[in-house]
Amino acid sequence: MFNLYFISQSTCSILLLLNFALKNVACNPVVRTKSGCLKGSIDRNIDGGKFYQFMGIPYAEPPVGDLRFKAPKPKHPWKGIRNATEEGSACPHRREKRFNQSVPLVGDEDCLFLNVYTAELPRNSATMKLKPVLVYIHGGGYVFGNGGRAKYGPKNLMTEDIVLVTLNYRLGILGYLSFSDPTLEIPGNAGLKDQRLALRWVQDNIRRFGGDPNRVTIDGESAGGSSVHFHVISPSCRGLFHGAIIQSGSTLNSWPWGKLDGAISVVNKIGVKAKTQKEALDVLKSLSAYELVRVLEQMGITECSNDWQDISPVIEYPHEGAFLTKSPIDILNAGEQNQVPLILGYNSKEGHWMNYQQMAAKAMGTWVAPFSWECIIPWQTGIKKGTAKSKRFADTLERTYQTETPEENVVNAWSDSIYDVGIEQAIKFHLKTHLAPIYAYRISVITRLNYLKRSLNLWDKPGVFHSDELGYLFSQSITPKVSPGSPEDIYRRRIVKLWTNFVKYKNPTPDDELNVLWQPVESVDPIKQLDIGENLTFVDTPEARRFVVWNELLEESPFIIN
Ligand SMILES: *[C@@H]1O[C@H](CO)[C@@H](O)[C@H](O)[C@H]1NC(C)=O
Ligand SMILES: *[C@@H]1O[C@H](CO)[C@@H](O)[C@H](O)[C@H]1NC(C)=O
Ligand SMILES: *[C@@H]1O[C@H](CO)[C@@H](O)[C@H](O)[C@H]1NC(C)=O
Repeated sequence: MFNLYFISQSTCSILLLLNFALKNVACNPVVRTKSGCLKGSIDRNIDGGKFYQFMGIPYAEPPVGDLRFKAPKPKHPWKGIRNATEEGSACPHRREKRFNQSVPLVGDEDCLFLNVYTAELPRNSATMKLKPVLVYIHGGGYVFGNGGRAKYGPKNLMTEDIVLVTLNYRLGILGYLSFSDPTLEIPGNAGLKDQRLALRWVQDNIRRFGGDPNRVTIDGESAGGSSVHFHVISPSCRGLFHGAIIQSGSTLNSWPWGKLDGAISVVNKIGVKAKTQKEALDVLKSLSAYELVRVLEQMGITECSNDWQDISPVIEYPHEGAFLTKSPIDILNAGEQNQVPLILGYNSKEGHWMNYQQMAAKAMGTWVAPFSWECIIPWQTGIKKGTAKSKRFADTLERTYQTETPEENVVNAWSDSIYDVGIEQAIKFHLKTHLAPIYAYRISVITRLNYLKRSLNLWDKPGVFHSDELGYLFSQSITPKVSPGSPEDIYRRRIVKLWTNFVKYKNPTPDDELNVLWQPVESVDPIKQLDIGENLTFVDTPEARRFVVWNELLEESPFIIN
């Protein structure tokens, strides 16, 4: 092992010497992966500490041509040294506020790249102690985003002794088109299979960056959080990771899910009559990547905020290489999930994001599903709008949220129905069969670092918005100047410490350095969670009263996906 590895590193160094002046050898780190040599660069963390970065590493063949819409194939080896000094292309999407048609489309179908950040390379010593690895999966509703530094910069996390990996995966129709007809060979979940292939790449290669393949934690927020939960429940991901952090999204939320054969309704909505799945596929094959992004947008979102999406992750028919063939609740009831320690949580006012989208859509004359008490009932309950049961549930929910101002009531109802209840349900079903600790949190800290508040410039609204915590974990293009020792600095280091303690020890508070003991959840009645605010306090969830009502509704009409 050591010899082979040593030789391969030497081969890389010789290649490097042939290609570059000696001066560059000192400045530019080179690593040999199983697919070829990579030249990285050097950057500094928020304390000025040096780390190496390798960006735009291809982990799959470009998913184009015959590979479009299909499961990814591992990258063929390349010759020579590949530049890993710049990020690879994002997958095609409209940046951030996707309902705003003035925001440009970006990205390229050749987008399956990842980035590795590490403070130490094992080039001279095979006895280097390998570091635990954090693999971060970005969010964006399975339709936008990428793993790049503008939003997921490494300078905060690289103050800790870990290796960080960020990655791109396919989005929208390119990532989640699915057909129940096996002869079409597009069973769905290509984007989740991209993520899985990236995790296999980590198993095969991360040692060469000083990372320990036996101590990998996966983490993500929003659609990244539900993606992490998909990996936790997918038997096909067994052994690829050893801990998981799930922020503001899970497979028991309604929005991650699409429907098999969504393509027919997609092409019908753009005015093309397709009678068979094959015809619908031919239409979609003929469109460019950017046309596919626009087609999905033209469908608006849906009539109701908690309706299904036509194109998103699905349960596949059984076949070799499937990502998921059973519903999460069946998997959790049977204890077939990956038994790794978990952190799950949400922010104090997630629902402001939906509220903002409504206001912005109204301002632009575009469509976003309006709020209604019937609409917040998840579609997976099978309850049809307008029925007596739907109205009874809606009345119960409306009564539950009549506590503050009308806007607050709606924001709280949106927070719970779109985000918090899915997390609470995931904790509830995991508790039945999970053998490893489950830690729960709720973020309530507000400073200039809160990501979404800052990017929307919405400081007058109370609470912590969806994705606000990213501004603490990551250095971002919008991060303001933070002075050492300021509250912002203290809070970001604290969150980084909790997360990286979990990466290192599978326990976010292994000692009393943070003056708090974050204990695993034992019951959902009520959930005990770490409130991450100005102070760290271990509390009964403030959402307990609302969760009791949702639990009763979801026991009467369970969340069923098929
Ligand atoms: C590699 O990237 C560096 C820095 O961006 C650039 O100067 C150099 O020309 C690139 N080399 C190749 C072979 O593309
Ligand atoms: C839509 O995007 C354009 C271009 O980025 C921007 O100037 C405009 O303010 C946006 N509109 C809204 C309502 O966000
Ligand atoms: C945090 O703790 C400090 C010191 O105990 C206290 O003064 C402050 O009020 C607390 N903040 C909150 C929001 O509870």
